[in-house]
Amino acid sequence: MIKERQTFVTNELVDLVRQLDHETFLHGMRVGEMSYKFSRYLDLSLHQSNQLHFIGYVHDIGKLKIPISIVTKRGPLTDFEWNLMKNHTIYGYELLKDFSYHRDILKTVRYHHENIDGTGYEGLRSNEIDFNSKVIRIIDSFDALTHDRCYRKKCSIELSLKKIQKQSGTVYDQDLVKEFTKFICKLY
Ligand SMILES: [Fe+2]
Repeated sequence: MIKERQTFVTNELVDLVRQLDHETFLHGMRVGEMSYKFSRYLDLSLHQSNQLHFIGYVHDIGKLKIPISIVTKRGPLTDFEWNLMKNHTIYGYELLKDFSYHRDILKTVRYHHENIDGTGYEGLRSNEIDFNSKVIRIIDSFDALTHDRCYRKKCSIELSLKKIQKQSGTVYDQDLVKEFTKFICKLY
């Protein structure tokens, strides 16, 4: 049996993450940081909080396997490009598996685009989605909404939160959205 890696960040991994485009790199840093803070707010164990911090940092690492011209494209993606882009969850899972990361980390990198109602990338439903993936699903969206993207301008914190609340129970986990709302109100 392969021994699972205990240390989260290694030099090899840092080298890889640095190869991501600047926007994806910064997004990962922010998602990691906010996931850690939210985990502490939820009173999760320090181990799980550190794990979520790490997952946030690397959740989009699979984008390394997608042509940079598609990842950084300014403007809408074609159907072909969009389908390719969606593979980043599986690519990320495979990449980190080669590094022998813990199965909990692999699972979240793979399932961070699953929706509660089963309409996500792989069609998993609420009880089939791991807790960490549900957390990253919210924070990933919140960060994307509150920052400029090449194809749209950022939304205010208030509007971003409203957009997430509107999809509570369909895209996002209801209980976590309630907690996230309290967390954001406390933070800002
Ligand atoms: Fe992603």
